Amino acid sequence: MRSEVEKIEKEALEAAEGASDLEEVKALRARYLGRKGVLTVFLRKIPGLPSEERPEAGRLANQTKEKLEEALKRAARDIEADLAESSRETLDVTLPGRPPAMGRLHPITQTTYAICEIFQRLGFETVEGPDVELDYYNFEALNIPRDHPARDMQDTFYISENTVLRTHTSPIQVRVMESQPPPVCIIAPGKAYRVDSDVSHTPMFHQVEGLMVQEGVSFGDLKGILTTFVHQIFDEETSLRFRPSFFPFTEPSAEVDIRCVICRGKGCRVCSHTGWLEVIGAGMVHPAVFEMVGYDTDRYTGFAFGMGIERIAMLKYGIEDIRKFYENDIRFLRQF
Ligand code: DAH
Repeated sequence: MRSEVEKIEKEALEAAEGASDLEEVKALRARYLGRKGVLTVFLRKIPGLPSEERPEAGRLANQTKEKLEEALKRAARDIEADLAESSRETLDVTLPGRPPAMGRLHPITQTTYAICEIFQRLGFETVEGPDVELDYYNFEALNIPRDHPARDMQDTFYISENTVLRTHTSPIQVRVMESQPPPVCIIAPGKAYRVDSDVSHTPMFHQVEGLMVQEGVSFGDLKGILTTFVHQIFDEETSLRFRPSFFPFTEPSAEVDIRCVICRGKGCRVCSHTGWLEVIGAGMVHPAVFEMVGYDTDRYTGFAFGMGIERIAMLKYGIEDIRKFYENDIRFLRQF
């Protein structure tokens, strides 16, 4: 009798220990402790045993029952813990990484940086000014009087009577001169706005303004600086020509053409078969502008220039439609 119980106990405990899932634990419980379970059947047989064996058999069988209950509970607990653990470990650290999609700088930003870097190497400091500008800085202080055609409602976005979206980056030169005495040597990139839209114009575009004021600055310095700039942004073979022009804020004024970088001067669609491309407006700062900011016109001279960044980028990368920059077509932008 004793050996029978011990055999059942040994077998049952081993089975409980080896159980690998909850179904198996359930089956074992039924097999040993269920209504027709091995141990249950054994317990039921006890009343039929000789009276002197009954107490011992009852005690043993109940002990085994308790041990087995305990073992099955433990088995179920371990299996559940294992399950929880394995569902947590779905991260395979040996898998190759998934690199994030890299963004890149917009071609206009790249071109702006390239332009500013060249001027920085020439000693120009980069400064900025507000996009929403006072009429005074955008026009008045640049010697553009009230009745000047550039103020026409057709060109300028007015915010109010005295406030505009700046139509060029030139107001920055006035702000800088107003805030400091000479020498001044700055480059000022930024957005500009005009009521205009076609293959070569967008209502918002970018310009870079340059200004150098010091005693003895000459038109020769202007030519030297712009020639160096053109050779660096395009290449050493790109020749320049300075044509007389007019800007209210410079005297004398010039327009700077470069040899067409597309056809090298043979004549093509981009240069309208002239072999030349107009890229920069420039000149010697008009004494009227100096007077506005309180600079001594007998002592100081200076040059200023301005150029469209989109235009430079279009020529550098061979882009024919300016609107491509602002359509946000990722296939276009990815090429730069
Ligand atoms: N502000 C002019 C424009 O928007 C460009 C320009 C021309 C800037 C001559 C200058 C300059 O500083 O001297 O077209």
